[in-house]
Amino acid sequence: MRIYLVLSLAVIGRVAYANGDDKCGSDLLCRSSFTYSVLNHLFPPYFMKSTPMKLQGKRPFLYYMQQAVEKYNTEFKNFTATYYPTYGYFIEGINGLMGNFKDNRTYWEFSNATFGPLDKGVSSYIPSSGDKVLFNFTIDSRPRTVQRTFNGLDPKKFKP
Ligand SMILES: *[C@@H]1O[C@H](CO)[C@@H](O)[C@H](O)[C@H]1NC(C)=O
Ligand SMILES: *[C@@H]1O[C@H](CO)[C@@H](O)[C@H](O)[C@H]1NC(C)=O
Ligand SMILES: *[C@@H]1O[C@H](CO)[C@@H](O)[C@H](O)[C@H]1NC(C)=O
Ligand SMILES: *[C@@H]1O[C@H](CO)[C@@H](O)[C@H](O)[C@H]1NC(C)=O
Repeated sequence: MRIYLVLSLAVIGRVAYANGDDKCGSDLLCRSSFTYSVLNHLFPPYFMKSTPMKLQGKRPFLYYMQQAVEKYNTEFKNFTATYYPTYGYFIEGINGLMGNFKDNRTYWEFSNATFGPLDKGVSSYIPSSGDKVLFNFTIDSRPRTVQRTFNGLDPKKFKP
């Protein structure tokens, strides 16, 4: 069963953004925040979006993806996810750009700066302070020096 979660709310968040009150306005806030980035250097139109997110308890990364769409909608327009039992949400597309591993070996790689590609999906990964979480649109090519993961799973083994 495919459940699409496409969030696209109005631009209310821009006010907070401009004032800096929700975007890590002081060092104190920054210490309990992490950075969320999405990057597409593969296909035009290229884009690179980045925002600090204030940590709100031990919530899974999916929560912050929703927050980014709601608060910073100019940069984080929407995303598309498929829900699988036991695994949780799998991110298929961001800002309208869809991965398609079957047809052209593209996918959104989920990583953090210290670990590289993460071995957890967005429903189970819990960001921590200072974390740099990145969704990078990528194309599978060999050889690769790092273990590839497909939202936390090996794409070759991922058979929904
Ligand atoms: C998602 O965002 C992209 C990029 O702005 C846009 O082209 C697309 O129409 C949006 N999709 C929906 C369902 O709003
Ligand atoms: C990948 O293949 C799909 C299906 O053929 C197509 O819709 C999509 O545009 C392709 N993506 C890229 C980045 O070429
Ligand atoms: C990056 O992810 C790894 C694996 O989940 C985790 O152990 C590490 O703490 C994360 N880094 C930060 C800065 O949160
Ligand atoms: C992002 O993906 C591109 C295309 O696969 C790759 O060349 C680049 O090294 C990746 N960047 C990061 C920071 O992972």
